[in-house]
Amino acid sequence: MRRPFVAGNWKMNGSVAGNKALLDGIKAGLAAVTMTEVAVCPPFVYLRDVAQQLQGTAVVLGAQNLSEQSAGAYTGEISAAMRLDLACRYVIVGHSERRAIYGESDALVAKKFAAARKAGLIPILCVGELLEEREAGTTEQVIARQLDAVLTLEGIAAFAQAVVAYEPVWAIGTGKTASPDQAQAVHAFIRNKLAAQDATISDKLRILYGGSVKASNAVELFGMADIDGGLIGGAALQAEEFLAICRAGA
Ligand code: PGA
Repeated sequence: MRRPFVAGNWKMNGSVAGNKALLDGIKAGLAAVTMTEVAVCPPFVYLRDVAQQLQGTAVVLGAQNLSEQSAGAYTGEISAAMRLDLACRYVIVGHSERRAIYGESDALVAKKFAAARKAGLIPILCVGELLEEREAGTTEQVIARQLDAVLTLEGIAAFAQAVVAYEPVWAIGTGKTASPDQAQAVHAFIRNKLAAQDATISDKLRILYGGSVKASNAVELFGMADIDGGLIGGAALQAEEFLAICRAGA
């Protein structure tokens, strides 16, 4: 039995005052979230503050990105160990915005995945196809390529301490959600591909869906056999909506 997991990706949003209001709202409704593991991933500069506000709650902390390097002359970069220092448990790796806007290749994403694990963070590896790739019928090839980059560098055993998030790029921030059947088909593909290398690890792996998840579609999505929760963008910035999505995980 995989424990449902809902992670809020705040992206480049927030302020000290705004984060406090959001977290107060989330904390007020947490008692009703029984089964689901809940994480929030604020921008780096707020991690320490958010960690303090989450003390004594079951909500865990994640980061949105990390350097593939461990330390040294890498101006502007932040290492996995620094994230761990700030009480992070998870780190998002290979979000489509990092891949598309900042040019992160499959190989770089795999290195970041490795750096996260080496430091003791749990990577949330994002995979997903562009609209033109879906329309061309190459969704599975794209996902396989993105997974293979990590499998080649790190091996299947690494997925025992990892989370995968399927995020079709055409569904992120667009209001267009993959249908539960469309999402389930890709989740099953991911699980089967990994099961071919290790069925036990694949069976235990949590595979999240991301892309315009809202309270109104979460129950149906999370009800699918291979969807174990969600990576939530826009809806993670509203306490009530986020809490309702968390409750849908159970
Ligand atoms: P969205 O973003 O929920 O706003 O579509 C999801 C994500 O990018 O992780």
